[in-house]
Amino acid sequence: MKTIIEPFRIKSVEPIRMTTREEREQCIREAYYNLFTLQSDDVLIDLLTDSGTSSMSARQWGALMTGDESYAGSPSFYRFKSAVKNLMPFKYLIPTHQGRAAESILFTVVANETHSIPNNTHFDTTRANVESQGAEAVDLVIEEGRNPETEHPFKGNMDIAALERFIEERGVENIPLCMLTITNNSGGGQPVSMENIRQTREVCDRYGIPLFIDACRFAENAWFIKMREPGYQDTPVVDIVRETFSYADGCTMSAKKDGLANIGGWLAMNNEEWAVECRNRLILTEGFSTYGGLSGRDLEAIAVGLEEVVDEDYLNYRIASTQYVATHFDEIGVPIMKPAGGHAVYIDARRFLPHIPPLQYPGQSLAVELYKEGGIRGCEIGTAMFGLRPDGKEEPAHMDLVRLAIPRRMYTQAHMDYVIEVVDQVFTNRENLRGMKFVRQPKALRHFTGRFDYVDH
Ligand code: F0G
Repeated sequence: MKTIIEPFRIKSVEPIRMTTREEREQCIREAYYNLFTLQSDDVLIDLLTDSGTSSMSARQWGALMTGDESYAGSPSFYRFKSAVKNLMPFKYLIPTHQGRAAESILFTVVANETHSIPNNTHFDTTRANVESQGAEAVDLVIEEGRNPETEHPFKGNMDIAALERFIEERGVENIPLCMLTITNNSGGGQPVSMENIRQTREVCDRYGIPLFIDACRFAENAWFIKMREPGYQDTPVVDIVRETFSYADGCTMSAKKDGLANIGGWLAMNNEEWAVECRNRLILTEGFSTYGGLSGRDLEAIAVGLEEVVDEDYLNYRIASTQYVATHFDEIGVPIMKPAGGHAVYIDARRFLPHIPPLQYPGQSLAVELYKEGGIRGCEIGTAMFGLRPDGKEEPAHMDLVRLAIPRRMYTQAHMDYVIEVVDQVFTNRENLRGMKFVRQPKALRHFTGRFDYVDH
C-alpha cells in the first residue's frame, strides 16, 4: 500500500480550543508578539518543539503505575538501565532530569577555559554549557549543511578534513572530547551517516580524543541510515543504533525526544574516572545516582519509550509525516531547508519574505503571521535568536528560519493538512507581512522573553 498510516489508535484525547483570527490577534498583541509568551491553550497546533511533547502509549501510562519511588536502588532504575544498555552499551549510566543537565555535569567535569570542543553543530544548550566553563564550542559541519538549498542525504555530517585541521592547529591537549549531534538539530534536523560516524571515530582514535554523541534523536538518525546509506537497507534499526554507539566513548541524551517521554535524560560513558566525578556532581545538583532528577515512574516511562522508539513501523510513520509536510510546502513553492529533517520542517523565512531585511526579523514576522492566520505556533531560528553578539552589536544570523517541529504521535494527517493550508494562505499574502523590532530585550537569550512590535508602528 502507498498510504503510510499512523501505526496506533487513539484512546485518550485532548480538545483543541478553536479560536478566531480576531481572538488570536489580541492574544499575540498581549504577548508582545513573542510566541513563547502565549498561553498554550490559545494555540491550535503547537509546533514550538518536539521536546517533551510526545504522546505516551498505553504501555507507558501503565508502566507509570509500577514506578518505585525508593530513594536508592529502585527497581525502576534497573529497568531504565537495562533499556538504555540494550541500545547504548556504555559502562556508566547517570540519569538526569533532562539533556542540558547531562551536558552541564559533563562539561563541568571535563572542560575548562583552555579547552575547545568540536561538534558537527552544538545545540544552543550544549554551546552554553561549554561556554559557561570558559571553553570554546566549535561547529564543523560539512559545507552542504550550511546551505538550505543544497540536497545531500547526510547534511549533518562532520567535516572530517576540517576536524583534523582543527585538532592539529588547536593541539590535542586542548580538546578533552569531540562531539557528534545526531540528528543535527541546529542544522535542520539533518542526519549523520554511519560512514561519517566511523570516520570521526578514526580521527579521534588517531589523536586519542574521546568521542561523545549528543543522542537526542538517535532513532530518527538510524532510520535515515537505513533509508539512505548503502548497505543498511536490510539491517534492523536496533542494530544500526548499537553500531552507532559502538563508535562512541559516551553520550548525552534528552529522553524528551527519542525517549518518547515528557521529561528525563542521561549521561553515559566508559571512562571510570570521569564517571565518578560526574556522579558526585550529580548528587550535588540533581539527586542520588539511581534517580537523577527523576521520579521512579519517569524512569519506567523512558524504559518503555526506548523499546517503542526503535519500532520500524513507528519510525516509518514518523519520518513520512515530516516529509509529507515538506513535500507539500515544496509543491506550493514555499522555500524550505532541503531535504526535510527528522523532527521538523524549517521554512526559509529570508527567501519567503525577501522584502524584510534580516535585522527586521523575517522569521519572527512569519512565525507571528502563522499564529494569527491559523493558530500555529512555530519557532523563529534566526536573527532574533542569534543576532545579538555578546558586545551588544547586532548582525544577521547565518539563516532566518522558522522551525515547525512535529511532536511525536500527537497530530494526525488532517492536522498536517491544515498546517499546509495555513502556510499556503500566508505565502499567498506574503507581500503584506511587515518587519519587526524589539521594544524590550534582555542581554542574553532575548528570543525567550523579549518584546516585539512591527517596525512601522
Ligand atoms: N541537544 C539537542 C540536539 C537538543 O535538541 C536539545 C533540546 C538538547 C540537547 C537539550 O535537551 O531540552 O532535554 O535539556 N532541544 C529542544 C528543542 C529544546 O526544542 O529542540 P533538553
